[in-house]
Amino acid sequence: MLVTNFQEEVVPVPNSNIFIVSEPSSALDFETYYHLRFDVLRKPWGQPKGSEIDETDSTSIHAFIKINNEVVAVARLHFIDHSVAQIRYMGVDPNQQGKGLGKLVIAYLEGKAIENNKKIMILHARETAIKFYENCGYKIKEKSYLMWNQIQHFLMEKDLEK
Ligand SMILES: CC(C)(COP(=O)(O)OP(=O)(O)OC[C@H]1O[C@@H](n2cnc3c(N)ncnc32)[C@H](O)[C@@H]1OP(=O)(O)O)[C@@H](O)C(=O)NCCC(=O)NCCS
Repeated sequence: MLVTNFQEEVVPVPNSNIFIVSEPSSALDFETYYHLRFDVLRKPWGQPKGSEIDETDSTSIHAFIKINNEVVAVARLHFIDHSVAQIRYMGVDPNQQGKGLGKLVIAYLEGKAIENNKKIMILHARETAIKFYENCGYKIKEKSYLMWNQIQHFLMEKDLEK
């Protein structure tokens, strides 16, 4: 069984590894956190360094998982209004994908949204990630933007009260 304990941020998973979802705090934490975001979500599309950071980062909640001190999964949460929150920049190291890490980070950020009285989570999913988000309980609302003229995104939503 998969158990998420938001209090202690320790998450046992079936293959006997213990993955800890936590929030970057030191300058080094943030450096390595943004580095993985860049490597997974920007570099493969030839985007410049710096494009992985935006103005909302300074007021967002950031989550990551480290294995052997290496950042292997990242994502960010920010609040849209009194009831809606949004996840952005979900990325897992290609060598660590398919092990449940992405799902744990999503669950952690959903917990943070609920703690902050948010009722709906939205996100814009890359077409290739739709199945992942569906697996996490999200439903497609509509086709949204085409990033860099090549990556189609879809607005997805989850009712956090269900
Ligand atoms: C999409 C991504 C974040 C998923 O993270 P992950 O750690 O590999 O996913 P998980 O192992 O937590 O998968 C959770 C569930 O979703 C399923 N899943 C994940 N990716 C999937 C895919 N591409 N197609 C079908 N199912 C998928 C898994 O099988 C798993 O199912 P289970 O719970 O029944 O076992 C990761 O593959 C990634 O970083 N991709 C590249 C960047 C990207 O596209 N980010 C999203 C931007 S919107």
